[in-house]
Amino acid sequence: MEGAKLTDFRENATIISQISRGRDEKNRFYTALFREESRISLDLTYMFDTPGVNSISKGDIEALIPRVMQAQKMLENGEGDIYDANIAMTGWQNLPEEISKGHLEDIKSVTDALSREIDAFVSLGIGGSYLGIEATFRALTHSYFNQLPRVKRGGAPEIYFLGQNMDPDYFRDTLDMLEGKRIGVNVISKSGTTTETAIAFRIIRRLIEKNWGEQGSRFIIVTTDKSKGALKNLSDRKGYCSFVIPDNIGGRFSVLTDVGLVGLAMANIDIEEFVAGFKRMRNITMSDDFWRNPSLVHAAARYASWLKGKKIEVVATNSSSLYPVARWMEQLFPESEGHKGHGLWVSPSLYSEKLHANGQMVQEGERNMIETFLLLREHDNRLEIPYDKDNIDGLNFLADKGLDMNYVNRKVVEGPAYAHYLGGVPNMTIEIPRRNAYNLGQVYYMMEKSVAISGYLLGHNPFVQPGVEAYKKAMFGLLGKPGFEEKAKEMREDIEKLERIKVNAR
Ligand code: PA5
Repeated sequence: MEGAKLTDFRENATIISQISRGRDEKNRFYTALFREESRISLDLTYMFDTPGVNSISKGDIEALIPRVMQAQKMLENGEGDIYDANIAMTGWQNLPEEISKGHLEDIKSVTDALSREIDAFVSLGIGGSYLGIEATFRALTHSYFNQLPRVKRGGAPEIYFLGQNMDPDYFRDTLDMLEGKRIGVNVISKSGTTTETAIAFRIIRRLIEKNWGEQGSRFIIVTTDKSKGALKNLSDRKGYCSFVIPDNIGGRFSVLTDVGLVGLAMANIDIEEFVAGFKRMRNITMSDDFWRNPSLVHAAARYASWLKGKKIEVVATNSSSLYPVARWMEQLFPESEGHKGHGLWVSPSLYSEKLHANGQMVQEGERNMIETFLLLREHDNRLEIPYDKDNIDGLNFLADKGLDMNYVNRKVVEGPAYAHYLGGVPNMTIEIPRRNAYNLGQVYYMMEKSVAISGYLLGHNPFVQPGVEAYKKAMFGLLGKPGFEEKAKEMREDIEKLERIKVNAR
């Protein structure tokens, strides 16, 4: 029997744009029309005066405006609690204006040359050295990118991510995908000592060296600190191609640095357009007009919610492609806000899927949450809903009216936004016009600035993560890492004092 043919469907527009990106066709991000069509909006219709307890009023936000404007001024002037090891960690603020065209071309020439020599590219890193790259890659490419023939990937190699967890089965499964392929790797770590990334790099480096010996060095890219750290030393010794993570930009703010740009260029994503999106939102969010500045409004709305006892922010999207962006926000906000008992827990959700699960909790559970929708206005493809003569599901009314799956999917946000508002969940919608690098750049900058303002409002430094260090020390103690003997002893003593309660199912 012959296999299925997709005769009723148009060509997949995501694949068409991957192919054109591969031919180096650029988006016309400098035209007035493109810019007009690329306006991100923040809709607060359902944010205020929700029925029930702990509602937020527009007045609550207006009362915060003087503090928010003061925070914006301090951020621009490099003032306040923004330092890590005596460095003001706000380099991301002006970065969009500082990246030179020449630097982007250098990255492209390295990735183009490597791309020609490899079949698969593995990005190694965790946290800020991982999430932004994966989010952007998944947002802008086909859901089954690696399974497409190379020509439909626009000539890009297969793209994999490792080092973001220590699951040996996942790692081993990924190695199976690499078998028989020429492999390139970018190992990304600002500190150069992150255990998960380092272990992943050991394994991949060994694989490359076993297969291609010294020659394999040219398949290895290192992205790390410009002058210090174990990775930098190794890279200098071995002569690997290297890229830099600036001192004044922390991991979760680094997607526009070489951390993100190298991997994205490898996937043929237009990094010039990505920078242009960041630039535009930087300009927009410099405004002193509070209600025209989406970062300030976003930060104030979230802070006012927190003051009213909200603990959770569901970040929900109707786009599988934007779900990884919600996951990027799950890092950016809690790692920056979760200090001194502060902050909202971010819960990324893909709708409709989650509406049939924790959607019940959002509608009727404890009223301790807000919701932020990432609504994709135009999907790449349109899918018609076919007319069915039996109409057993009663859905012919959709086909009769010519309503397609895209229309239904928009209602997957608009319906819950209204229902959850009535259920007492204040919610706002960030509408993203299309899946492209420009719009993602805008969203990322808007969020980076929002969380920076949030740090001033909450009253702590959002650019450090001492809590993450705490887990590392405990893990090193348990692993018996040299230098952590005292910590190990202290932990053993502490743990011995605890009553051991374990229920063994028999
Ligand atoms: O945002 C951060 O700073 C963290 O999430 C780091 O990016 C993460 O811990 C990885 O650190 P490194 O790049 O030093 O390996």
